[in-house]
Amino acid sequence: MTRHQSQIAALEWYLDHGVSEPLESDPQDRTAWLNAQPLTQEKHEKIPPPEAPVTAPPAFLGTAEARTEAVRLAASAASLEELREAIGQFEGFAISKTATNLVFSDGNPKAPVMLVGEAPGADEDRLGKPFVGVSGQLLDKILKAIGLDRHSEDPLNSIYISNILNWRPPGNRNPSPAEIELAMPFIERHIQLARPRLLIFCGGVAAKALLKTEQGISRLRSRWHDYKTVTPELTRLCTDSIPALCTYHPSYLLRTPAQKKLSWADMLEIDSKIRAL
Ligand code: URA
Repeated sequence: MTRHQSQIAALEWYLDHGVSEPLESDPQDRTAWLNAQPLTQEKHEKIPPPEAPVTAPPAFLGTAEARTEAVRLAASAASLEELREAIGQFEGFAISKTATNLVFSDGNPKAPVMLVGEAPGADEDRLGKPFVGVSGQLLDKILKAIGLDRHSEDPLNSIYISNILNWRPPGNRNPSPAEIELAMPFIERHIQLARPRLLIFCGGVAAKALLKTEQGISRLRSRWHDYKTVTPELTRLCTDSIPALCTYHPSYLLRTPAQKKLSWADMLEIDSKIRAL
């Protein structure tokens, strides 16, 4: 194998294991330090301690302080634009350091329907908008079938779209429970400020997080739930209950096309609810 071929093979091996993003601009030779230091006990004692990393990870991720700060920032936002800025300022998400763009929302914030997905993927991270990759294209087709178009200027035919997480988890891994918990004040405030008449929770992660349930998407889908803000510090800002319907995530439909008929039934249910508004 030539050197070039072995480098390609190493990159493919990384990709197979989900390592798809460079985290630093300069390559690091992790073996250089070992090679430079003979591992005898005598020499070992003289090895200076490793230098502190240049960018220390946020010290408070997942801690009570991060949660308090997330709630404070979310509650202090009085408009969608202020909320976007507040999320951009928040230092508690390690994933904000590896993401390229904050992915806040797309569509018409005046639309009566708001859809909430899970987290941005690579395309969303690159373009700074939710659901713009392959699964987003399928979502657009599904919504168009019931007359909803995120680009429509008429709010009645439009839809407003966001995600539980506003930053892409590296390598498209699933968001961790701690990340979801930390994101809750922001998405709850997002819903309060957008004030939709109906909500669509797209996929199990969004449905479980926002309805505070352990039930799976197959049980939750196709019926209306009452969504309410639950973060205590945010309930004083709004206690409205909003009808929410859960449906399959388009990336699941891409993998399991046979379920599209169930998704279509969900869309018809949403359509008849919109007409009754
Ligand atoms: N999947 C999601 O849940 N959200 C996106 O924005 C893209 C893919």
